[in-house]
Amino acid sequence: MGSLFEDIDDTIFDDKDVLAEEYQPDEILERDDEIGQYKHTLKDVLFGRNPTNVMLYGKAGVGKTAVTTYVLNELQAEAETRDETSDVHVHRFNCNGETVFSTVRALVNQLLPAHAADFPKRGLSTSDALEEFYSQLERVGGTHLVVFDELDHLEDANTLLYDIPRARAKGDLEDARIGIIGISNNYKFRDRLSSKVRDALNEDEIAFSTYTANELQNILRDRAEKALVDDGFDESAIRLAAALAAKDNGSARQALDLLRKGGEIAERNDDSTVTEHHIDAARDAVRRGRLKDKISDQSTHAQLVLEAMARIENRGDTPARSKEVMSVYQEVAVDREQEPLSTLKSVQNHLSDLTMLGFLTQNQVNEGRGGGVYHEYELDMTPDVVFGTCDELFATTF
Ligand SMILES: Nc1ncnc2c1ncn2[C@@H]1O[C@H](COP(=O)(O)OP(=O)(O)O)[C@@H](O)[C@H]1O
Ligand SMILES: [Mg+2]
Repeated sequence: MGSLFEDIDDTIFDDKDVLAEEYQPDEILERDDEIGQYKHTLKDVLFGRNPTNVMLYGKAGVGKTAVTTYVLNELQAEAETRDETSDVHVHRFNCNGETVFSTVRALVNQLLPAHAADFPKRGLSTSDALEEFYSQLERVGGTHLVVFDELDHLEDANTLLYDIPRARAKGDLEDARIGIIGISNNYKFRDRLSSKVRDALNEDEIAFSTYTANELQNILRDRAEKALVDDGFDESAIRLAAALAAKDNGSARQALDLLRKGGEIAERNDDSTVTEHHIDAARDAVRRGRLKDKISDQSTHAQLVLEAMARIENRGDTPARSKEVMSVYQEVAVDREQEPLSTLKSVQNHLSDLTMLGFLTQNQVNEGRGGGVYHEYELDMTPDVVFGTCDELFATTF
């Protein structure tokens, strides 16, 4: 008898990593304008001047992180070749799920010498952490560029964005120089900053537009050539994946997901070329994956409210009023071993946020003469996706 894997001897992928989420392309296509602006903004660093702060805006998957990594790698490499330029240190940090304190703490820990103990988790304040941050920057010296990715996820970015730009003026930094690079999916982010912070930051802004179908085709074709074997894909696959992603959100991430999933489906079917049929078959799985990501991005209580809505939907009891959602939400919280929020108002706030984000639909009901006005909610997706994702998110880890 042969071994279990004996019959597997062929693969459609030459280098599948090229299609992985974390792959950093060494060539960025279709973003010449953004890269040009970036270059112009950061060039001061080469002459030992203070870096200009930068804020990047654009929807998910339009290349903000990839372009930033590329530009900063190039800048660091160039600085190394110039004797007169001081070292450029880059600190990358994703703010998703973080507080201002945990963010600064993490930056301090990245900077501490290898033998030093980590900055304490408890007992010290954000200003203590900032003070330590500045003294570490002084110790290391040179120019520091701090990338705050997904900065809009930080509840109160104001403190951070007010303090750091003023560090030199306040005398917290003398030798070291620091620049902030903020990345946000949310265009409204800047409006939420106080005017005091906006003045302190005085940043350059770079807007990333969504990709057109043509741009996505070029990005995809380049990746497909590197990732798949010769003749491993058909132009029809590139065209369809680009068209679907362009029609939805103009996201390169989504286009690449379709190509990777399409490749996996082709391989499973023993087909030697990825065609539009495989991309078409990949649509459902990719859509589910995107929904999962979107759910994972919500706060814990928003997730619990969403799961409550999924339960109500499953019982066929939608549309439901917020009071009813509240009681199911409390059951869900108990099941998931979370302390439930106690006020109806807080659950109503989550319901309206979830509606705005497209998870739920809401309609307004007038009770007629003398009666009040209230809202009813329905789930705008299949309950299964919600249950599956919440099971993963709340899985007990031993
Ligand atoms: N212009 C581009 N050229 C090549 N790959 C790109 C380009 N833009 C985005 N990508 C790829 O698409 C995916 C999403 O891009 P990313 O930079 O993470 O988006 P964002 O940070 O805006 O959400 C990544 O895998 C990235 O490598
Ligand atoms: Mg990103």
